[in-house]
Formats: sequence, structure tokens, C-alpha cells
Amino acid sequence: MNLFDLTGETAVVLGATGVLGGAMAEGLAAAGAKVAVLGRNAERGEARVRSIQQQGGTAGFFFADALDQNLLKATREALLKRLGAPTILVNAAGGNDPRVTVTPEHPFEEIDVADWRDNFDLNLVGGALIPCQVFAPTMKNNRKGSIINIASVSAHLPLSRVAAYSAAKAAVLNLTLFLAREWAPYNVRVNSITPGFFPGEQNRRLLFNEDGTPTPRGQLIFGHTPLARFGNPAELVGAAVFLASGKASGFVTGIDLRVDGGFLSQTI
Ligand SMILES: NC(=O)c1ccc[n+]([C@@H]2O[C@H](COP(=O)([O-])OP(=O)(O)OC[C@H]3O[C@@H](n4cnc5c(N)ncnc54)[C@H](OP(=O)(O)O)[C@@H]3O)[C@@H](O)[C@H]2O)c1
Repeated sequence: MNLFDLTGETAVVLGATGVLGGAMAEGLAAAGAKVAVLGRNAERGEARVRSIQQQGGTAGFFFADALDQNLLKATREALLKRLGAPTILVNAAGGNDPRVTVTPEHPFEEIDVADWRDNFDLNLVGGALIPCQVFAPTMKNNRKGSIINIASVSAHLPLSRVAAYSAAKAAVLNLTLFLAREWAPYNVRVNSITPGFFPGEQNRRLLFNEDGTPTPRGQLIFGHTPLARFGNPAELVGAAVFLASGKASGFVTGIDLRVDGGFLSQTI
């Protein structure tokens, strides 16, 4: 038996138009799952689908705004018809918003509450709550499902500057535990992955200068990462496939799997 074979599974990856969600979508497809690529950017979504198909996989792009519950329900119906009932959900939509980044020029006290709510909502409500509400019922009915929420090292210990993001990601970890217990009777497992630092669109400006050299913050991160480098998005695939596969992780629910180069183990 291949513990990591996902043939017959249908995976929904919200945020598959992005760097990390895209890498996990490709990895799940390579393991045999049919993959629904969800996001708002059709160009990047269709490109991801083509890439999966070129590697022999099955995928379709579906427009989805993680914060629009009714639209997401319509997306669910469309993808059910094309790819079958979802058995895997990866929640990878989210990111920091420069409007709520704390800097010496923009101190915490001056964060606009409406901007904070936007970023908090994106990461908690769109990043986990709504997609879990929309996709879990089918999984619960079928007594089969694996939900993977994407957290952050900032969920464990808040990084400087990104207060709204950190608080929302901490809430994602908490919600993951709640839902793991709540949906275990339906054989729907709910886990999270904590990525360390993987250069992507949403964090590029925090990590790199315009000339491509690491910012002082980027250098601090290297210094704080025992493996002394940023992650490669493909390095999340193993964790995602493990958690997605009932054969590999059928008795695993409510865990947070860190793929962070040791960042959260570092002290002095
Ligand atoms: N990169 C890292 O180092 C790192 C570390 C820890 C955690 N994370 C987390 O990993 C996840 C992916 O990050 P990334 O680095 O891959 O960033 P990214 O490339 O910017 O991807 C972010 C994704 O979120 C989607 N998104 C944003 N708002 C959305 C909305 N309203 N509805 C639907 N999709 C929405 C974007 O899709 P559209 O633009 O198509 O809507 C995009 O696919 C995020 O939750 C992030 O917080 C990243």
C-alpha cells in the first residue's frame, strides 16, 4: 500500500493562485488527487491548472473570494459537478496587509480599526472559517475529510510589525483545535501546517529590497533559522500530502505540523 497515494480524492485548494497554495496544489495532484484551484486571479489560476495538467494531473480553476460565503457555495456546486465531492480542503488564502504593518512611522496606536478588521477577516474568516463552513458539510455527510489550515510561525509567537496577521493566525490554530474535536465523529480531520519563511508575493517587501538583497528583517530571519535559509514552497508538499492522506495520517487530527527550518525551536 502506498501511504501517500491520493488517487480517488478531490482536493480544494483555496489560495492555489498563490505561491504556497500553488505548490501544495501541484503536490496533491502529483500524488493523484483531482485538484480544484481556487482564488480570484484567473490568469494565475489557469496557469496553475495548465502546469498540473502538463504533469499528467487533473485540475480545474474556479473563481472564489474566500470572504464571500454565497459565492463560495456556488463555487462548491460547480466544482462538485466537475471534479466530484471534495475530500481534502487546504486553506491557503491569506497574508499580511501593508496597511496594518507597524513601523516607526505607523505605530500600533494609529492602526485604523477598519484596516485591522480587513486583515484579521482575511486570515481568519476567509482563511479558515468560511471555507470550513462551506466544504465541511459534504465531507461530514460522506464521513471522510481532511482539512489543512495554513497557520504561521507568527501564530505561535507574534513577529514584530504584523499584529493583526499574528492574532488572526493564532486564532486559526485555536479554531483548528476546536474543529478537530467537533468534526472527529464524522471522520473529518482538521490539522494545520505552520510554514516558516517562504518568499511569496504577500511577504516579498518585508523580506527583500528592490534589488533582491535581503532586508535587515530578512537577515534577522536567516540568523534565527537553524537551517539558515528560506523555505522552498515544494518543501510544504510532504506535510500537505501526509495530512491529506487518510492512509498516512488517519489517526492524526488537531496537530500543527511545523515546516519552518527550526525557526520555532531557536532560542539563543
Ligand atoms: N510565504 C510565507 O513565508 C508564509 C509563511 C507562513 C504562512 N504563510 C501563509 O500561507 C498562505 C499563502 O501565502 P503565500 O506566501 O503563498 O502568499 P501569496 O502568494 O500572496 O498567496 C496568497 C493567496 O491568498 C489568496 N487570497 C487573498 N485574498 C483572497 C480572497 N479574498 N479570496 C480568495 N483568495 C484570496 C490569493 O489569491 P488571489 O489573489 O487569486 O485572490 C493568493 O492565492 C497565507 O495564508 C500566508 O499567510 C505564508
